[in-house]
Amino acid sequence: MTFVDGPVRVRVPATSANLGPGFDTLGLALDLHDRLEAEVLAEGLRVEVSGYGEGAVPLDERHLVVRAMRATFDRLGKQPTGLRLSCTNVIPHARGLGSSSAAIVAGVWLARELVAGGRLLLDDAALLDLAAQLEGHPDNVAPALLGGFVISGQDGDGTFWAVRGSVDPRVGAVVFVPTTPVATKAARGLLPAAVPHGDAAANAGRAALLVAALSGHPEELMRATEDRLHQEYRRPAMPESLALVEALRRDGVPAVISGAGPTVLAFTDGPGSSGAEDLVARCPAGWGVHALTVDGTGAAPDDGAA
Ligand code: HSE
Repeated sequence: MTFVDGPVRVRVPATSANLGPGFDTLGLALDLHDRLEAEVLAEGLRVEVSGYGEGAVPLDERHLVVRAMRATFDRLGKQPTGLRLSCTNVIPHARGLGSSSAAIVAGVWLARELVAGGRLLLDDAALLDLAAQLEGHPDNVAPALLGGFVISGQDGDGTFWAVRGSVDPRVGAVVFVPTTPVATKAARGLLPAAVPHGDAAANAGRAALLVAALSGHPEELMRATEDRLHQEYRRPAMPESLALVEALRRDGVPAVISGAGPTVLAFTDGPGSSGAEDLVARCPAGWGVHALTVDGTGAAPDDGAA
């Protein structure tokens, strides 16, 4: 096995998981990208981070991208003599927009690119499986890798799977990003061990409807984004986010908690639409807000374009 000369670059999208009823299974890639560059060195490990995480994340073997790269090199059979990694992060951390999945996908993708013939040694299904194993669940890593709207899960034997669904070009999103982070582990800790059968049945129906709504019936998005399995249980960790979801939904806007929160995602009929502009204006004071399109590409070589 040999390594390639020169740096390799990747851009990886933010992702919103769950989308209301699709807990741990539905995810959407959004047009907000972390950009990373990696290269093999003669020795050592050099990690640079700018943007989110700068001055906060460890710049050594504990760095999440480095850990994902190491796991991928192990899978491919050999570690490089040394490594340089540069990360330019625009996806907010611990906000429910898939920053850790973006880091993991970037790591597995960069490591594979640094190996000559890496794509032949580790195909896309194997890369998804590795990324999902590292993250623990596939609903963010799958759209981060594949782009678009993705339905994903894990079989009883542990195999992760992912299938892309189509997205109506009218569909866009506005994300409202609170100032305070919520750790996914804490948000998962609020969920009950069991839920009423009626709630599970309601979510199954809504999740199925959401596949149809996103693919060509956006007029069904309000009904299709109702959730009974996770959002309400998570209210104690993100009361302002739940209040915003309720306020938007009262006004007919299909709004959900993005992933494990606390970001709120509202579906629109496109980022340039008057609907999106009106929504941006409803951003609570101090929060961040982005009007976004759906990213249809997923992890891809970074050619420097916006
Ligand atoms: N489906 C996950 C959750 C997404 O809601 O906990 C977090 O990464």
